[in-house]
Amino acid sequence: MAYKDLNEFIHVLEEKQELVRIKESVDTHLEITEITDRVSKKNGPALLFEKPKSVSGHPVLINAFGSLDRMKLALETRSLDTLAEDILSFLDMEMAEGILDKLKLIPKAKKISAIFPRKVKNAPSQEVVLEGDQVDLEALPVLHCWPRDGGRFITLPLVVTRDPERGKRNLGMYRIQVFDKNTAGMHWHTHKGGAHHYRMAEEIGVELPVSVAIGPDPAVTYAATAPLPDDMDEYLLAGYLRKKPVELVRCKTNDLVVPANAQYVLEGYINPAERRKEGPFGDHTGFYSLEDDYPVFHVTCITSRRDPIYQATIVGPPPMEDAWFGKTTERLFLPFIKKQLPEVIDMNLPVEGVFHNLAFVSIDKRYPGHASKVMHALWGMGQMMFAKMIFVFDREVNVQNISEVLWYMGNNVAPKRDISFVEGPTDVLDHAAERPLYGSKMGLDCTRKWPGEGFSREWPDVIRMDPQVKRKIDLLWPKLGLD
Ligand SMILES: Cc1cc2nc3c(=O)[nH]c(=O)nc-3n(C[C@H](O)[C@H](O)[C@H](O)COP(=O)(O)O)c2cc1C
Repeated sequence: MAYKDLNEFIHVLEEKQELVRIKESVDTHLEITEITDRVSKKNGPALLFEKPKSVSGHPVLINAFGSLDRMKLALETRSLDTLAEDILSFLDMEMAEGILDKLKLIPKAKKISAIFPRKVKNAPSQEVVLEGDQVDLEALPVLHCWPRDGGRFITLPLVVTRDPERGKRNLGMYRIQVFDKNTAGMHWHTHKGGAHHYRMAEEIGVELPVSVAIGPDPAVTYAATAPLPDDMDEYLLAGYLRKKPVELVRCKTNDLVVPANAQYVLEGYINPAERRKEGPFGDHTGFYSLEDDYPVFHVTCITSRRDPIYQATIVGPPPMEDAWFGKTTERLFLPFIKKQLPEVIDMNLPVEGVFHNLAFVSIDKRYPGHASKVMHALWGMGQMMFAKMIFVFDREVNVQNISEVLWYMGNNVAPKRDISFVEGPTDVLDHAAERPLYGSKMGLDCTRKWPGEGFSREWPDVIRMDPQVKRKIDLLWPKLGLD
């Protein structure tokens, strides 16, 4: 059964001893970060700070998604790989082109129509409505995460915008810096859905309505981070994940729709061509992202539950809670990649690579140059364009085992021949890139080289023991006193 709301998820976390309530009064300025960081590094529980120091005194939930097990609980699945197959049918459905494709998908279409987002009139997220002078972002228990941060940041916001021309909506997670009672900095990177809508609004010279939900049920929060192809509806994905429609309510002061079960909703707009310095911010790379100009979000109304819980996260040197968002995406979207590149066996985006720096990929190599083809194809796929270094291995290499990856990489690569450099878009957070947003990427072909690739000598086999000897020693082993 789908979680009714975040409160129900908290209840389940508590039942499973995956959540600890903190009764001490703790400061939202740095102290919550220090505690959560220590807990994250030990793969510890979700934390509910019951008495954070803030004007509103609302409790703060953090690290709720902070392990793969809690991610599975959040998405109500025992196996992310099984769920991934489901998501593949969702994507197939959304991307079906031509009448034949569509006919084939009628049974799936029925499934989708049953989880289509539903509009409701009354919403828990609108039990309290604060408008005009009552709006006060500074009263919320928003965290000042790291010492050199430029201020307080809303770190788990679901930002809703709509394409000003065609009306398609987007839901993305982009951090927000609180400037004062009713303005904030909107940190959507230039490549993301919200930024695209804003550019369109600027081109036609209109203000862009924006609403931000905080703390809906966990499937909706995950969906906001998923790298869906443009124009696909994150609310529909969330419905697919929770197997029940997401209930949406119209905002009070703009005409966007937001999850009815959220804890808070910030409503407002962004003016064309208005920018203000945002940052610095201790980011998920483990480094501070530097100050830069970002659009200003004017908040016209804050709605909330009567007893809201403020959901936050901290990012910083990995692993942190966001590592599990990334790992979940790696698993859930692998079948989608395989559908377009059937030769891909597995992929590991290691946590230390902060998801855009390192990708280890194994393939069923079928022809000369195959590794190079896979790298370039990956660089052409959605947010995989940010992958700074892609390492391609033969199918027998377990890319989830870093020790195996390093061993094959070191042995199989002739640097001059096997390393290639390309240029293209880089992640906004790549502070080492030659230029902001544009720079070099590296592909390493770590596969065994073929004659067709100009390798004319014999390629040596990996050392393996004779299976007969192994069986014999297995039998003898208990007598050797070596365990
Ligand atoms: C905790 C967390 C914080 C994030 N912060 C940002 C951010 O500040 N700016 C941004 O552009 N992307 C951020 N992301 C990544 C986006 O949410 C992600 O790329 C998502 O797919 C964007 O959706 P979109 O393609 O609809 O724009 C964050 C992700 C997580 C998990």
